[in-house]
Amino acid sequence: MVTRNRLDFSYAPLDTEYKAPEIRTYAGDARSLDLIENETVDLIATHPPYANIIPYTHERNKGDLSSIHSIDEFTNEMQQVAAECIRVLKPGKHCAILMGDARKHAHFIPITPRVLQVFLDVGFVLRENIIKLQWKMKGTRENWSGTKYNFLLIGHENLYVFRKLKEDESKTKFKNSMKWW
Ligand SMILES: C[S@@+](CC[C@H](N)C(=O)[O-])C[C@H]1O[C@@H](n2cnc3c(N)ncnc32)[C@H](O)[C@@H]1O
Repeated sequence: MVTRNRLDFSYAPLDTEYKAPEIRTYAGDARSLDLIENETVDLIATHPPYANIIPYTHERNKGDLSSIHSIDEFTNEMQQVAAECIRVLKPGKHCAILMGDARKHAHFIPITPRVLQVFLDVGFVLRENIIKLQWKMKGTRENWSGTKYNFLLIGHENLYVFRKLKEDESKTKFKNSMKWW
């Protein structure tokens, strides 16, 4: 209901010939997009839980990625999400994923590089890494206004924009793209 409500807005397309597609919404698990056929999606914009830093269900719920307490396990489950994303996306199109890191016992838990790697492993190439600042975080403001901690508060998230290669594009070209350095 929330999704359909958000999608209900009016707009004036630049291309006057443009016909808006039919909107279909599905409720399900991002690890299994079984109602969506291969290579039928033009854009993926996704914002998964950052492992269990914010729980979205009260009890341990198999369908909820935020109920996973181990980063290794979370990374494995995100590999399934990445595999489904590349399966349903049309070649040449983009998949954007917003991801953040966490802190535990005053130490940094790197979640974003693990998620970045699984998306690369399934075959995506990275088009952009956009740093999103978390201006509205209560903790961030407190830190900047003088509260002292013995660590830095995490004030950003990573918006990774991946691209699925077209059939005639060679992945080697992107993997070896550091050659000129
Ligand atoms: C960081 S929030 C994203 C919130 C979103 N940006 C919004 O404005 O509504 C993560 C969302 O992922 C959902 N989620 C958790 N496990 C999931 C799964 N297996 N498949 C799909 N979504 C899942 C959570 O319920 C939560 O709504």
